[in-house]
Amino acid sequence: MSTAKRTAGKEKQQKDQTKSKWSDRLFLRRPPAFLNPIRRLFEPPEKLIEPYVKNGQVVADLGCGSGYYSFALAELVGNKGKVYAVDLGNNCIRAIEKKARKGGYHNIETHTSSAANVSFIKDRSVDFVLANGLLCSMANHRKEAVSELKRILKETGQAYLSLGAGPPFGYVDQVEWEKVLEGFKVKQGGSYKEKWAVVSVKHD
Ligand SMILES: C[S@@+](CC[C@H](N)C(=O)[O-])C[C@H]1O[C@@H](n2cnc3c(N)ncnc32)[C@H](O)[C@@H]1O
Repeated sequence: MSTAKRTAGKEKQQKDQTKSKWSDRLFLRRPPAFLNPIRRLFEPPEKLIEPYVKNGQVVADLGCGSGYYSFALAELVGNKGKVYAVDLGNNCIRAIEKKARKGGYHNIETHTSSAANVSFIKDRSVDFVLANGLLCSMANHRKEAVSELKRILKETGQAYLSLGAGPPFGYVDQVEWEKVLEGFKVKQGGSYKEKWAVVSVKHD
């Protein structure tokens, strides 16, 4: 291969890498916490979770980001309930811990961890799992995350799954989304166009 061709190939590869970094930043990363007041205007967190969460319940916010939903979940489950706030990003978990300390939230248990391994949550112990924009943000180990979700969900529990975006900005395409949902009982939503679903454990 000529040097010119090799250089062009290298430049293209670098450009592609830059592109994926930017797409990660723009579409896959959590919305920054300082945008929460604006987000609240068009996506009030209570509106999404209120129908599924009751006082005293145990819930898990997998891929919780800056905790946009974790605090709303903590309000709903109250002092007798518990929220597991789990994210791969240590910075956002530290920020949630700080905000929880300041706000006197004693019912949020934080974990810097992959959703693919939440062994700190017992089998069949969770009433509601929120995985808002999680699977589409996971470059790998999505199957394991889905297995963990099934493992921790109570027989009577429900989970809200959503994709922020499909490929090329998110990792989950239609085939995979449909395969994921096949493993559950779909109670609401579910089409790839909608990109969200409320599911429960499937009893075979
Ligand atoms: C699009 S954001 C959604 C954040 C939050 N659920 C919300 O609605 O504001 C996706 C989040 O998933 C997290 N994430 C990506 N891969 C993960 C993994 N393997 N385990 C846990 N969290 C992960 C990212 O760090 C990011 O905070």
